[in-house]
Amino acid sequence: MSDSDKKTIKTLRRDIQRHDHLYYVEDQPEISDREYDGLMQRLKDLEKKHPEWITPDSPTQRVGGKISEKFPAVTHKAPMLSLDNTYSLDEYRDFHKRVVKGLKSIPENEIEYVVELKIDGLGVTLSYENGLLVQGATRGDGKQGEDITANLKTIRSIPLRIPMEKEPFKFIEVRGEVYLDHQAFLKINEERKAEGQPLFANPRNSAAGSLRLLDPTITAKRPLNIFIYSVGYMDKMSFKTHYEALQKFKALGLRVNPEATLCKSFDETLALIERWQEEKDSLPYEIDGLVVKVNSLKFQEKLGSTTKHPRWAVAYKYEAEQATTEVEDIICQVGRTGSITPVAILKPVLVSGSTVSRATLHNEDEINRKDIRVGDSVVIEKAGEVIPKVVRVIIEPGKSRGRKFKMPGKCPECATKIYRPEGEVAWRCVNAACPAQLKERLLHFASRNAMDIDHLGPAVLDQLVDSGRVKHFSDLYTLTEEELAGLERLAEKSAQNLIDALQKSKTAGLARVLHALGIRHVGQRAASLLAQTFHSIDRLQKTTFEDLESVMEIGPTIAESLRAFFDREANREEIRRLKQSGVALEEKQRKVGDRLEGKQFVLTGTMEEFTRDQAKEKIMALGGRVTSSVSQKTDYVVAGADPGSKFDKAKKLGVQVLNEEAFKTLLEK
Ligand code: IVH
Repeated sequence: MSDSDKKTIKTLRRDIQRHDHLYYVEDQPEISDREYDGLMQRLKDLEKKHPEWITPDSPTQRVGGKISEKFPAVTHKAPMLSLDNTYSLDEYRDFHKRVVKGLKSIPENEIEYVVELKIDGLGVTLSYENGLLVQGATRGDGKQGEDITANLKTIRSIPLRIPMEKEPFKFIEVRGEVYLDHQAFLKINEERKAEGQPLFANPRNSAAGSLRLLDPTITAKRPLNIFIYSVGYMDKMSFKTHYEALQKFKALGLRVNPEATLCKSFDETLALIERWQEEKDSLPYEIDGLVVKVNSLKFQEKLGSTTKHPRWAVAYKYEAEQATTEVEDIICQVGRTGSITPVAILKPVLVSGSTVSRATLHNEDEINRKDIRVGDSVVIEKAGEVIPKVVRVIIEPGKSRGRKFKMPGKCPECATKIYRPEGEVAWRCVNAACPAQLKERLLHFASRNAMDIDHLGPAVLDQLVDSGRVKHFSDLYTLTEEELAGLERLAEKSAQNLIDALQKSKTAGLARVLHALGIRHVGQRAASLLAQTFHSIDRLQKTTFEDLESVMEIGPTIAESLRAFFDREANREEIRRLKQSGVALEEKQRKVGDRLEGKQFVLTGTMEEFTRDQAKEKIMALGGRVTSSVSQKTDYVVAGADPGSKFDKAKKLGVQVLNEEAFKTLLEK
């Protein structure tokens, strides 16, 4: 039995690793997500049964526990230098001249280059010892970085083991760039917006932020990716050229950018520079230029490095498209959660094919740092999908400037005094009834991923909020067709359509309602998990912090936020009103049971069919609670194989013990 389990575990690991590679590196999956999840579940179950067989390279070990408070420092085996930048073809030709001169005895036609994309992300190292991924680190200051192994392991295109058995080297440290593609970046910002969190300015910041989180479970949710671009250190150097190293990386299962090109001459590199100038914007990720490297490792060694950069490589930087315009005004926008963001109103100008008339100024500190004032001429920049930003002010000598920008003391919408919480960059309006916040909350409530109420746009909401007719979400459901037909810019037909849309939204389902309520940190994913687990808002409302936190993927931040939300009488009142208007606050698809209402469970040992979390969710779905220690109050102790001391305690206290069979019967009764 055990022997066959051991074999199955091995096969499952090998299969999952192969499918990870096919999906994340080759982009050519062979099985469906569902089949993949099935393999993973089987492996997880078997490892639960035999925890002593869990190895660090098992695919189940990608997401580990929290890192205490700081990442340990790592001294790089070879310094991580940066690249010298060139911004024009002339400067770039000078680089080639220096290379030719540095390799004086070598004929120019023997110098090959490799041209690569310069991915705009974060440089990292990955160390493999006898095939096993043992460490991953940030670049840091080039000499010392931070150990972010736990976070890097969550990136599925990074293999936890590479087949090094037949290689002459036993240790290899490779270097690469971790990044987020445009789509992933936009999605993260959309989610952050929905959760009322500040937006990331660009994919690079977003990738950097994700890698430095102390909780790898959050990093795991960010679709980070990596391209490996060089050797950092090897115990036995076995390549002759850089290009050969890249090919070997690929063969070992490491993800190498497919655009890396071997050029037989300097002229060939010039043609590529021209080509990428045209094509860079159609890539699915951001690049900030090209990297050109001398191919021969012998030549690289001959050329050497300065203290800062190698003499054998250079970055050719493309300018992000910029334009000059004028700041006509600086306004402050109030978000759904009351955060106040300064925004520059610009004289409209064309950049990267679209007209830009506003740019976020992020926050007070950012404005002060750049000293942006109304009336200033400014350089703005828009690269790829990134939100336009003000790069700098053009100071014109002799021209008088406007006054230095100061945050308003009051909320621009409701005139409540605003405040800046300690340690935060944003100022906030604390008035929950602030019309600007209310409008944003209502817009979010009606949005496509929430209640999906068509025809309820800003023009209609402005009138409904300004007249005081709508103060809560529930007020929307008391609107009549006559009232709506009386609004400006809303035709009779649209009034009818809006009433229909409101009616339809009542059956949107619990997951959408939870998302629509705009509870801090509760985005679409969390809302759907909560709906699946608790099935009804009443039950969710009664759930303790501990039980909320124990739902897989929920965690303390969301749990705390949910508790804070439900603990406010005003929110509970609003939920009652929504229910009265006929908004469905229960998940209808599945029968909700109360059979275990008030019953306390303790789990011990390993079950065949459920993981701990699954068992817990099943109990909670039926209204029961799971606690960690056995006491007089415990109703049942569910004991799987190899139960611990809880089992003995249950016996001592006379608490009813259920084996897996009996537990299943109880659930299914
Ligand atoms: S090679 C000594 N290749 O750009 C040369 N770097 O300023 C080491 N980068 O810190 C770098 N794509 O994080 C190299 N294809 C590529 C790259 C790349 C992005 C980053 C890297 C490095 C920075 C250099």
